[in-house]
Amino acid sequence: MSTTTLPPWPYPRWIAHRGAGKLAPENTLAAFRLGAQHGWRMFECDAKLSADGVLFLLHDATLERTSNGQGAAAGLTLGQLAQLDAGSWHSRAYAGEGLPTLEALARFCLANGYQLNVEIKPHPGQEEATGRAVGELLARIWPASATAPLLSSFKSAALAGARATAPQLPRALLVDQWAPADADLHSAQQLGCQAMVLNHALWDAARVALVHGAGLRCLSYTVNDEWAAKRLLDLGTDGIITDRVDLFSPAA
Ligand code: G3P
Ligand code: MG
Repeated sequence: MSTTTLPPWPYPRWIAHRGAGKLAPENTLAAFRLGAQHGWRMFECDAKLSADGVLFLLHDATLERTSNGQGAAAGLTLGQLAQLDAGSWHSRAYAGEGLPTLEALARFCLANGYQLNVEIKPHPGQEEATGRAVGELLARIWPASATAPLLSSFKSAALAGARATAPQLPRALLVDQWAPADADLHSAQQLGCQAMVLNHALWDAARVALVHGAGLRCLSYTVNDEWAAKRLLDLGTDGIITDRVDLFSPAA
């Protein structure tokens, strides 16, 4: 295997999932602050579009698990989303934490020199629009002098949307199951991706060689065990997304 054709990769190896994993309410600004306090310098988040076209952070399609809201998040305006308490479900210390906008998180990262991985997590049917909006926002506010945010998605249409509005921002295709005939690698190449982010169990030496050989970086989610991280490092992969900001050293 040769990695000499791989493009530069300016990101740290370690990425904190949803801010600080499970130590703080996921995708809240408090979570990203806590991750930073643990020494982490790159953060993954999940971004969706509100009904009035503002990008905000939420993982699930529904509100119950991570807020005091009920039902589907799709269809709510930012004003309605801003009424929600996204912290009390986790613990009393975080009561009243709101669902942040993607712009608020981006500005927090920019102000502190942190790197950002925005997972485009669209409501069904809004794949391309959400990707376009993420690209438009980050192309507008992220200075060319700062390391570019990495845009990722399980949805090809979302990455195509991001490419349409921000072709200069690096993209990564997320994959949970490896499809026959390396179809996901071909999709990633067609989308001009710089990386693939796989469910970590999908990586083996042959697949790392295949993806590196195609000129793409190899990242993994969500890696919470030391044995799994060691396996991925031994395989020569390039990045690890983890909840365990309290277990791993992000400088390693
Ligand atoms: O972006 C990596 C990872 O977050 C993808 O899965 O479900 O945790 O958003 P999920
Ligand atoms: Mg995610």
